[in-house]
Amino acid sequence: MMTRGVVWGSIWLMLGVGVMFGGLAHAQERQAGDGVYSEVQALRGADVYGNACASCHMADLRGEGFAPALNGDAFALRWEGEALGDLFIIVQGTMPADAPGELTAGQYADVIAFMLKANGYPAGIALSEKPADSALVGFARQ
Ligand code: HEC
Repeated sequence: MMTRGVVWGSIWLMLGVGVMFGGLAHAQERQAGDGVYSEVQALRGADVYGNACASCHMADLRGEGFAPALNGDAFALRWEGEALGDLFIIVQGTMPADAPGELTAGQYADVIAFMLKANGYPAGIALSEKPADSALVGFARQ
């Protein structure tokens, strides 16, 4: 016969496991490949990129010197398993490297959209201008 303690123990264990899996499922709710920016944002973002980023990261995103490539394997390896919201926060907080935070929130969202498009991710619904809204959007492991 199970004692009361064991019964409560198993109930707490089941609750804990439930919360754990619930949490994981939540974290993987959306992926960058699910259409998380709009075509219009990416088009505007191309201009933002040309004006504020290309001088260091090059027009074709291949990077140069200390400025890393923002496409291809370099981008995929850097962001695999990470959150889109973190990419957003880093870009907004540190780029352009010679004038961090100089762009508007909308321009940052646009340039993130442009980077996603340049990396082959499909367009879909518009990307929020608040990085925190993308905290649960992941870059899937290949
Ligand atoms: C004056 C040169 C310069 C400009 C302009 C510039 N960057 Fe950078 N960027 C760098 C350098 C240098 C690094 C590497 C050091 C670092 O991460 O701070 C970098 C790193 C990055 C990274 C990688 C961050 C990481 O954690 O992997 C991203 C993404 C990025 N830049 C995006 C942008 C975007 C988008 C713009 C335009 C809004 C931009 N950069 C403008 C020089 C620049």
